[in-house]
Amino acid sequence: MDLSTTIAGVKFPSCLMNASGALCVTGEELESLGRSRSGAIVTKSMTLEPRQGNPEPRYVRIAGGSINSMGLPNLGYKTYAELIPQLKRFNKPVIASVAGLCEDDFIAIAETITQSLPDLIEINLSCPNIPGKPQIGYDPEDSERLLHRVRKIITVPMGVKLPPYFDPAHHSIMAKVIKRTGVDFLNLINSVGNGLVVDPGRESVVIKPKGGFGGLGGALIKPVALANVHAFWRLLGESCPIIGTGGVVGGMDAFEHFLCGASAVQIGTQLVEEGISVFERVERELVGVLEAKSYRSPGECRGRLKELS
Ligand code: DHB
Repeated sequence: MDLSTTIAGVKFPSCLMNASGALCVTGEELESLGRSRSGAIVTKSMTLEPRQGNPEPRYVRIAGGSINSMGLPNLGYKTYAELIPQLKRFNKPVIASVAGLCEDDFIAIAETITQSLPDLIEINLSCPNIPGKPQIGYDPEDSERLLHRVRKIITVPMGVKLPPYFDPAHHSIMAKVIKRTGVDFLNLINSVGNGLVVDPGRESVVIKPKGGFGGLGGALIKPVALANVHAFWRLLGESCPIIGTGGVVGGMDAFEHFLCGASAVQIGTQLVEEGISVFERVERELVGVLEAKSYRSPGECRGRLKELS
């Protein structure tokens, strides 16, 4: 079975990798991803300044997934710019995830990080957890202006991590923005933002930041992730490869993402819960699923989701 994949001209040894945020903040965590079966090393979304993130508790496992409001804890872009060249020795693509607290932050980070030559850069337009900062991806005009600006600076393949959309009109507007701004790949989806989990025993919320509101991840968001992958696949097709993120717990979940149009998948909540060995298990399961269906690679089933007649 060939589990390799190509995204925006970059070859990945495996189509399974970590989602940004999961076990990818420190140099040690990034090296551990390098030694693992992950098909890439994806960094935590980096900001201009190093950040401690929001007060704890800020990540809690819930039935079927997780809620978090981490608040972008990361080492700051200068440290990642130094780490990235060292991560090359693991012979798998490095994806630098870039966030910002304002539009000019993205520009400043992009200028330096593109020169450290990650294999790809992901522009995160969908962090839901910074108090007082709306998700840029929910404003198509802000998104377009920002993407035009970073596209002029970034010299490696550039992708965008988008929040989930819940209306076909929004998919169609954003697909046009993606086409006009020369985006090379999409990562769909970020966490389902601003959910609220209640502990009825304590009669309270379960995470501290933002009054308990936080991003949802894990199995419970899979239908939303698949809907977004398939909607953008139908609008953009092969012209813009998609990394499917959301609800990948086992090999069958990855297969469903491929049917919907994904070229690779990322694992977030389940990586946090299970640890780095998750890649071996999901890989084994995915090989089993594909073999049972006589597919020779994930690419062979990509986008082949059937409708009912
Ligand atoms: C965080 C959460 C996100 O969903 C994201 O895209 C970036 C950062 C966070 O809270 O750290």
